[in-house]
Amino acid sequence: MKRLLIVALSLGILSLSAQVKSSVSEDPKMDKFINDLMKKMTIEEKIGQLNLPSSGDITTGQAKSSNIADKIKKGQVGGLFNIKGVEKIKDVQRVAVEESRLKIPLIFGMDVIHGYETVFPIPLGLSCSWDMAAIEQSARVAAVEASADGICWTFSPMVDISRDPRWGRVSEGNGEDPYLGGQIAKAMVRGYQGIGDKAYSSNNQIMACVKHYALYGAGEAGRDYNTVDMSRQRMFNEYMYPYQAAVEAGVGSAMASFNEVDGIPATANKWLMTDVLRKQWGFSGFVVTDYTGISEMIDHGIGNLQTVSARALKAGIDMDMVSEGFLTTLKKSYDEGKVTEAEINAACRRILEAKYKLGLFADPYKYCDVNRAKKEIYTNEHRAVARKIASESFVLLKNANKTLPLKKEGTIALVGPLANSGSNMPGTWSVAVNLDKPKSLLDGLKSVAGNSASIVYAKGSNLTADQALEERATMFGRSLGRDDRTEEDLRNEALEIAKNADVIVAALGESSEFSGESSSRTGIGIPDVQQRLLKELLKTGKPVVLVLFTGRPMTLTWEDENVPAILNVWFGGSEAAEAIGDVLFGDVNPSGKLTTTFPQNIGQVPLFYNHKNTGRPLGEGKWFEKFRSNYLDVSNEPLYPFGYGLSYTTFDYSDVKLTSTTIDANGELTASVTVTNNGTVDGSEVVQLYIRDLVGSVTRPVKELKGFDKVFIKAGESKIIDFKINSEMLKFYNYDLQYVFEPGEFEVMIGGNSRDVKSARFTLN
Ligand code: BGC
Repeated sequence: MKRLLIVALSLGILSLSAQVKSSVSEDPKMDKFINDLMKKMTIEEKIGQLNLPSSGDITTGQAKSSNIADKIKKGQVGGLFNIKGVEKIKDVQRVAVEESRLKIPLIFGMDVIHGYETVFPIPLGLSCSWDMAAIEQSARVAAVEASADGICWTFSPMVDISRDPRWGRVSEGNGEDPYLGGQIAKAMVRGYQGIGDKAYSSNNQIMACVKHYALYGAGEAGRDYNTVDMSRQRMFNEYMYPYQAAVEAGVGSAMASFNEVDGIPATANKWLMTDVLRKQWGFSGFVVTDYTGISEMIDHGIGNLQTVSARALKAGIDMDMVSEGFLTTLKKSYDEGKVTEAEINAACRRILEAKYKLGLFADPYKYCDVNRAKKEIYTNEHRAVARKIASESFVLLKNANKTLPLKKEGTIALVGPLANSGSNMPGTWSVAVNLDKPKSLLDGLKSVAGNSASIVYAKGSNLTADQALEERATMFGRSLGRDDRTEEDLRNEALEIAKNADVIVAALGESSEFSGESSSRTGIGIPDVQQRLLKELLKTGKPVVLVLFTGRPMTLTWEDENVPAILNVWFGGSEAAEAIGDVLFGDVNPSGKLTTTFPQNIGQVPLFYNHKNTGRPLGEGKWFEKFRSNYLDVSNEPLYPFGYGLSYTTFDYSDVKLTSTTIDANGELTASVTVTNNGTVDGSEVVQLYIRDLVGSVTRPVKELKGFDKVFIKAGESKIIDFKINSEMLKFYNYDLQYVFEPGEFEVMIGGNSRDVKSARFTLN
């Protein structure tokens, strides 16, 4: 057992006092301005700043806000969200700065999650690019477009780690790894806000909001909004880093999650909102609830509206989204001595500071230049960026007999319920998109293939046999439209066109509304009716390419055994159709790698690469051993592991070389591999570094991602990839929640996915 000597104690959870960051801001000019303003404000006006109603232009929740203009005039509104259009926003801002007593500008928010009108792949897809520059650029483009349309605040990045593909919102996050999630969180915050002092210096930089703090992705059984309960050790080692990383990048705001943490809803959880977020991590922005997060605490069972509103404020919540619990009860609580003026002031100050930092006091119309909207939204330049990033997000899951890339010749039969819908392409949470604009896959393939190939289309099947399921999924969303022909008629039509084709492309999977909020599923396979179609298509004996649309990992065991080629395209955004064509026809070599494990079956869930070893691990390469940790009916292996993804070329990895087999606390060593592109086409490879702490004072995962490098390697060429390793990278939260490294032996693993790695060992002295 490794000595328990704690070499470096980096401010742990239990030693808060040393870590409390000063709450005094570093901008005396801002402080003076806000002090002067707050002196003029009544208690009601201060409470008004904490109120965030929804305009209702876009539906993202059940409750509605009413009489908004009236409330703005009375100083009862701090900001507004879900309002679309710069002219409208300008009008509302005018009411605030001309018709309210203190003329305080409003902040305008929206769910700009993966693009605005130019839509990028769903976040889960974006994460599979492992390309931080591209991800930052996607946020940058989103900020330019949103701000051109009056928006100065986005409810993104969503960084909830999730290991449960049943949860519909896995589509909105960055997968299962906290390190990767943290890098992406930082890239997105930089893209939206800008960096450090330069943040918000231009009218095309907007405030980000990291969400959903915290642990929303760990709801029991993958059911949305469900209870979360986990040890603090798991919390800090496996789930918290992405939120903290966003704070490190200077994120301006954070959103509380719907779920409870340790038996207290996050929205009323003082430990979470104040002790960890502010005191431990030094967050200085403001915290907004999620949609009706305050009033939902009545159903959580912790009090009536007055009680839960007071609890939220006291916990450290600054802004109330939609509940109007603050607006309608805080004054009463104040009069009754249940909340203090200091608590109301603190929240009000943080909202005013955000507006000040955004430059809204200097110019309330900073984001209301109506000419920008015409010139800067959905531009050709933005669309080209989106198309390129989309092609990087696709993951080639299988490619037997070099079925792909397709040739731009002959006849291609394009079949499936997802083949001819443009509005399905952007995916969930693309609330600002113009649904008439995205091309369908049919049109995308035609445009990329040109005239030399003939592309024929048949629907082949509806999305599901179960109409009620489809209706539930599309209740507030986009329907694909059902065809009332029988299943057999639809299929026969497809088989008829397939008969004369050289290759069949089957566009199957989920429609965009099958993932996202309130879209949990207990079955995560391709719906039966589509599978029946796929089986018949395979019987033709023609090569079949499955183009898989999905917002979550799916169970594809049968497909993997039987279909020659599978390209997972997630929901690739407004330019997805052509991006899919780029990859299918080989103009772009796929380079995406999974950031979430694909299980063999749903019973294996939760299944993730960075698991613990247990006291009875299964022997290497074994399916089953009696009295070991395994299943009778399925091996422990995933179908596709974390980090996995194929290319049209292949990459060979040398053994791992270390510059030294020992390091000390202040030292550093370099681990390197030579990666060779031994195929015939150029390609990019995501080289991944994993480390295992072989002996710890607490049990440690079998491997953890600690670095990665996406490199372009020409056919036939090799590159040496170096990773620096130091003690900082070996830290974890120990039993006492101190963030430490421990001396001992470590295994370094490098490879093109989390399963197929080369390894070496070193010792930390
Ligand atoms: C979602 C948030 C979103 C908010 C505002 C909620 O239902 O959970 O992610 O930002 O609505 O639209």
